[in-house]
Amino acid sequence: MLRSVLIQALIALALAAPAFATSSEQRGRTFAQSHCAQCHATGRVGRSPLPTAPPFRTLHLHYPVESLAESLAEGIETGHPAMPEFQLDPDRIHDFLSYLKTLE
Ligand code: HEC
Repeated sequence: MLRSVLIQALIALALAAPAFATSSEQRGRTFAQSHCAQCHATGRVGRSPLPTAPPFRTLHLHYPVESLAESLAEGIETGHPAMPEFQLDPDRIHDFLSYLKTLE
């Protein structure tokens, strides 16, 4: 009896797990907040502190966010002096893009 209750609880946990943000998304959000938020709006709401910097939640309206992977790896060059050049390692990029996906 106790055993089947335990098993049921485990199944319920396993089913519930995908509802939570993965740690990759959380790392991506933390990264965006600490490195990009001084200019970009990084969340679901709010304006960019720097008005010319697009809010991250609008990026997917212009292109699939996966297409950023390459430019993030090579270093984004927007030709805008206000945007510092970044070069991110693949893990960071994966985390960051996972987070962007949650904003779509
Ligand atoms: C000092 C301010 C500043 C910081 C910090 C900053 N950005 Fe930007 N970013 C800008 C501005 C300004 C633009 C708009 C440039 C333009 O349109 O010419 C921009 C544009 C972008 C774009 C759009 C590029 C395009 O061509 O569509 C992306 C993606 C982006 N930033 C990502 C990031 C990421 C990721 C970070 C953090 C790692 C970051 N930015 C940090 C100022 C900043």
